[in-house]
Amino acid sequence: MKYAVITGTSKGLGASIAVLLLKQGVHVIGVSRNKDKKLEKVAQENNVTYQHYTCDLANVEKMDKIFSIIASQFIRKKISMIYLIHNAGTVNPINTAENYIPEAITSHVHVNLIAPMIASSLFLNVAKTSNTPLINVFVTSGAANRSVYGWSAYSATKAGINRYAKTIALEQDMLETNSKVMIFDPSIMDTEMQTEIRSSSKEAFQDVEQFQQYKQENKLRSTNTVAKVLIDILLAPERIENGGYYSVKDIL
Ligand SMILES: NC(=O)c1ccc[n+]([C@@H]2O[C@H](COP(=O)([O-])OP(=O)(O)OC[C@H]3O[C@@H](n4cnc5c(N)ncnc54)[C@H](OP(=O)(O)O)[C@@H]3O)[C@@H](O)[C@H]2O)c1
Repeated sequence: MKYAVITGTSKGLGASIAVLLLKQGVHVIGVSRNKDKKLEKVAQENNVTYQHYTCDLANVEKMDKIFSIIASQFIRKKISMIYLIHNAGTVNPINTAENYIPEAITSHVHVNLIAPMIASSLFLNVAKTSNTPLINVFVTSGAANRSVYGWSAYSATKAGINRYAKTIALEQDMLETNSKVMIFDPSIMDTEMQTEIRSSSKEAFQDVEQFQQYKQENKLRSTNTVAKVLIDILLAPERIENGGYYSVKDIL
């Protein structure tokens, strides 16, 4: 029995990853503030389960409690593989740093950096105790490796998650556990995040016209295309390089 715990399953890339894994016979647990009702139907059609936990990942106390409940289920069950996919993310606030307000910075860092760190810590512990293979997937962005005017928070949290992922990969290697870590860069996709980006003002985000052009010129990939790339990697776990950086741009 394989399980995937995916954050941000209500829409975008997370919803597509959930559908494709359910179709491959993987039980899925989704965590987001809203629920995509079609996922339960897809689960039923494929004789697997979809469980949803409604949670704001910016709320550390609540997310810690929910992930503790989810992780504790795995101690009692006989599981052959757990995938923990840190997909939920926000690009907001989009603005130059002097215009950031503390609440927006705090919420951003909680969703993009602190929640994945807490969730992976809990799961690494459970995987070690129960000797269950675990694959932690951190969804990143090209913005981690370059500075983008108006995206200082986003670049900082995505760069932070990359270094976090690489470091826990090193630790799991040295500890000789059954856990692997990978970083997944989906490149540009046609999602609500891109709609938000395109609606920014030029003062807040200098490259806004370029992103409007990506949409006009049909350069944004569909989330199903991108999710398929990830699923192909996940279904051959023995080939996954621990700490590896997998970019859709290099694969497609
Ligand atoms: N779209 C792109 O071009 C692009 C490019 C590079 C990297 N990425 C990365 O790919 C991942 C998926 O992005 P996407 O484009 O699919 O985004 P999206 O369409 O905006 O969806 C984001 C998902 O994250 C969840 N989420 C956001 N804030 C949350 C919160 N506070 N608590 C719980 N869940 C929250 C949302 O669920 P709720 O709103 O229901 O909570 C939603 O399911 C992100 O990590 C993003 O940084 C995207």
